[in-house]
Amino acid sequence: MRKDAWNPAQYERFARERRQPFDDVAALVERAPRMRVVDLGCGTGELTADLHAALGARETLGLERSANMLARAAAVTRPGLRFAQGDIAAFADQAAWDLVFSNAALHWLPDHERLLRQLAAAVAPGGQIAVQVPANFGHPAHLAAVEVAAEEPFARLFTAPPRTGSVLPPERYAELLDDLGFARQSVRVQVYGHHLASRDDVVEWLRGTTLTAYESALPPDAFAEFLQRYRERVLPRLRDTRPFFYPFQRILMWARRGDA
Ligand SMILES: C[S@@+](CC[C@H](N)C(=O)[O-])C[C@H]1O[C@@H](n2cnc3c(N)ncnc32)[C@H](O)[C@@H]1O
Repeated sequence: MRKDAWNPAQYERFARERRQPFDDVAALVERAPRMRVVDLGCGTGELTADLHAALGARETLGLERSANMLARAAAVTRPGLRFAQGDIAAFADQAAWDLVFSNAALHWLPDHERLLRQLAAAVAPGGQIAVQVPANFGHPAHLAAVEVAAEEPFARLFTAPPRTGSVLPPERYAELLDDLGFARQSVRVQVYGHHLASRDDVVEWLRGTTLTAYESALPPDAFAEFLQRYRERVLPRLRDTRPFFYPFQRILMWARRGDA
């Protein structure tokens, strides 16, 4: 089994910056009474709890694979809000949920054509899907990680190289949502501009997310070396300004079934 490299403290270093896209995708949801909501890849559960409260949901389930992230969820559990450890790939409820929600998690899964079909099957008649995925994979911070991973000694240490690039073009999500029978939809691309203290914070940002895939796949010594080479590779490609402006592109999608 792969090592759980998620670390809530590292992830939450940029909690303020990560909050806005969550708020934006949550704002797309149409309020309805007594909703049943599932939050896929819910992380620490803190945002799941906010979603549950904002929607006044009857029932909310946060599904999360990482025990490290889920350890925090116990603190926010309350009547109607529960958490379960599990893999989104195995999530197979049929027409069970009024809202299938996911913020910044589905990019960890392959084959979004199949994944969207799977998630759509879990949406009840009249129900909604609301998803936010990063689409920043062309940024030097991501490209440098892919480059370093393809070099030795790292390349031979990966049984399978960490996945990049499962996120589809936004218009393909729109087509899929239409094909899957959603009567109304909104798909948009948004660039979030973050002012970080310096370009070094980009490395810290990625350590909390993207680089966990490399950390979990490499022995600790090799990951330390990977991080060092990554830092040397990426920093010269980023502007040396204080603050450092980090543009981060994301796709926000929402759709609703018309068969309520
Ligand atoms: C960037 S975090 C986002 C967490 C939370 N949704 C938020 O907005 O703060 C991505 C989360 O997805 C989880 N994740 C990734 N792949 C998963 C999978 N296949 N099944 C369940 N959770 C997964 C990770 O463990 C991580 O906690």
